[in-house]
Amino acid sequence: MNDEQDRTALRPATRVATAGRRKEWTQGIVNPPVWRASTILFDDVAHLRASTRRPNDGLYYGRRGTPTQWSLADALTEMEPGAEGTMLYPSGVAAIAGVLLAVLEPGDELLMVDSAYEPSRAFCDNVLKKIGVTTIYYDPAIGAGIADLCTDRTKAIFLESPGSLTFEVQDVPAIVAVAKARGIATIIDNTWATPLLLPAIGMGVDISILACTKYIVGHSDVMMGSATANAAWFDRIRRTAHSLGQCVSADDAYLASRGLRTLSVRLRQHEESALKIARWFEGRPEVARVLHPALPSCPGHDLWRRDFRGASGLFSIVMQGGDDKARSALIDGLALFGIGYSWGGYESLALPVDPSPVRSATKWQAEGPAIRFHIGLEDPDDLIADLEAGLARYAAAL
Ligand SMILES: Cc1ncc(COP(=O)(O)O)c(C=O)c1O
Repeated sequence: MNDEQDRTALRPATRVATAGRRKEWTQGIVNPPVWRASTILFDDVAHLRASTRRPNDGLYYGRRGTPTQWSLADALTEMEPGAEGTMLYPSGVAAIAGVLLAVLEPGDELLMVDSAYEPSRAFCDNVLKKIGVTTIYYDPAIGAGIADLCTDRTKAIFLESPGSLTFEVQDVPAIVAVAKARGIATIIDNTWATPLLLPAIGMGVDISILACTKYIVGHSDVMMGSATANAAWFDRIRRTAHSLGQCVSADDAYLASRGLRTLSVRLRQHEESALKIARWFEGRPEVARVLHPALPSCPGHDLWRRDFRGASGLFSIVMQGGDDKARSALIDGLALFGIGYSWGGYESLALPVDPSPVRSATKWQAEGPAIRFHIGLEDPDDLIADLEAGLARYAAAL
C-alpha cells in the first residue's frame, strides 16, 4: 500500500478496509500487530526528554498508546471526512463523559435530546449537575426550533439520531445551523449509523461519538468508545482524555480494528435482514407500530431518507395491547434471539424496553409494551419463523 496516496477520493468501503495501515505501524503485516506496552525504553536521556516534549506523537508511555491504538484511531478519523483526530475510551459511556467534560464548564447549559441513551442522561443528571452544568432536555423532533431553547449560557447541543430505543430521527443540518450561528458546539452519539451511514463531521457536527462496543467491534467481545472531532475541538478532547487517564489496551484495539475491516459488508446485511423483518412485523395484527427509520411510518423517516446512507440492524416494535407478562412470553421462548443488553454484534437480540421513565421533555405513548430487536447475521427467514412462534405465545398470554 502506498502511504502517499490521496485517500480523500476513496469511497467509504475502501477507506474502511485500508485506513490506519501505515507501513511504519504494520511493518508490512496486513493487520497492525498488537504492541503491548507500559514502559517505553529510550536510548539516552536526550531521547527520553525529546519524547516528553512531543507526547502526542511517537512512543512515549503506554497510556498514550502504541501503533495498535494509533492505527485504529487513525482509521476512525478517516471514516469521518473533515475530522482532525480520534480519541479512544474504555467504553462508549466513557467517551460520552470525556467529551462532555472537555466541552462544558461550570455555569454552562447543555441541550440534551430527550431520547438519549439512559446512561448519557445519568451522566448529565449526576455528574454534570454536581459541577454546575445545567442540562435541558429537548424533543428529538425539535429541528430548527432548538433556537428557542438557546441562551447566552448554552455551550453544547447533544444529539443521538436515531434514538436507540424509540428511533426518532433528528434534523441534524437544522440543529447544526442554529448551533453554528451561535458558536455552540454540537456532539452526536452516532453509534446506530456509524460514520458509514451518517458522516456527521462532514455534515458540520463538531464531535462524533461511537460506542465501538457495537458495530465497530461487531463481535460482542470488547468494550470501547471513541470521540472523533474537527480541528476546532480535537485538541481539547485530547487534553481532557489525557487528564482523565483514558486509554484502551492494545489487545482490545486490535480486535476493534479487525472488526472495523468488515463493517461495510456487515452493515449491509444487518440492514437488509432487519428491514425484511421490520416489514414483516408491519403486516402482523399483534404489532401496533414498527419503529424503524427506513419505514415511512416512522417519525423522522423523511429526514432519514435525506441524510442517511442506509440503516443498521436495530429497531423496536410496539405491541397492540397486552402486558409485560405477554411480552415476556414472547421473548423468553425465542430460540435464535439472545436476551441481553447491547447490540451491534453478529447475533440477534431481543430486549423489553419501557421508555417512559427515561423521558422528561416528551411523553412516551404506546398501544402496548415495546420490544427492541437487534437483527444479526443469521438467515432472516429462520428469525421470522422464531418470531412467528413468539407472536403466537404473545397472543395466547393475553
Ligand atoms: C446509543 C448508545 N450509545 C452509547 C452506548 C454506551 O456504550 P458502552 O456500553 O460501550 O458504554 C450504548 C450502549 O448500549 C448505546 O446503545
